Amino acid sequence: MDDRLKSQNGPDGPKDAEWENLYNQCQECKKCSLHLTRTNLVFGVGDRKSKVLFIGEGPGEQEDIKGEPFVGRAGKLLDDMLAMIGLDRSRIYIANIVKCRPPNNRDPNTKEQEACFDWLNRQISLIDPKIIVCLGRIAAMKLIREDFKITREHGKWFKYGNIDIMAIYHPSALLRDPNRRPETFVDLKALQKKISQLCPESLSI
Ligand code: URA
Ligand code: SF4
Repeated sequence: MDDRLKSQNGPDGPKDAEWENLYNQCQECKKCSLHLTRTNLVFGVGDRKSKVLFIGEGPGEQEDIKGEPFVGRAGKLLDDMLAMIGLDRSRIYIANIVKCRPPNNRDPNTKEQEACFDWLNRQISLIDPKIIVCLGRIAAMKLIREDFKITREHGKWFKYGNIDIMAIYHPSALLRDPNRRPETFVDLKALQKKISQLCPESLSI
């Protein structure tokens, strides 16, 4: 088994095989031109049996090198944000809208997002989360509403099928504009409350 799958929990019958199968298929993906410039595909990280799923935009430079989401500066801030509400990346799952790095960290375009979406949806159905957190506007526009406005609608609850979903500012946006941190803290507290209602086992405090 690939090293990046080893942090997963123990056997879970057919679902484990399905997950591994999905991972293996995804590693071969050439469905959009981002495969041409990636170093590593970034499938996701964490506990795939967690009920809490965070979804970012796409890999940056460090993520592309390591094959793991949120390992650069934004990732460090994400870890701090998680710690503030008793979460840890080993007890949640983290993925992105696109799995290969857009060159120069540009936004993934609609075609790329569309091409990659099936992988994410298959991950979502195997994870079967109770809560999804969109990190930033790209994930929110894909998963909540095409015309989602992060400035007005961050911290509010929506539905993705029967899953509760909320968007918060992307950690990179918080690095650029620290003034947004206090409102993000309020959103994180609302998230903590929801997790304690729906799946308290995800919290380590
Ligand atoms: N930004 C993202 O949206 N995802 C990552 O994995 C890293 C940075
Ligand atoms: Fe495939 Fe997604 Fe990578 Fe495009 S970004 S090549 S769809 S895995």
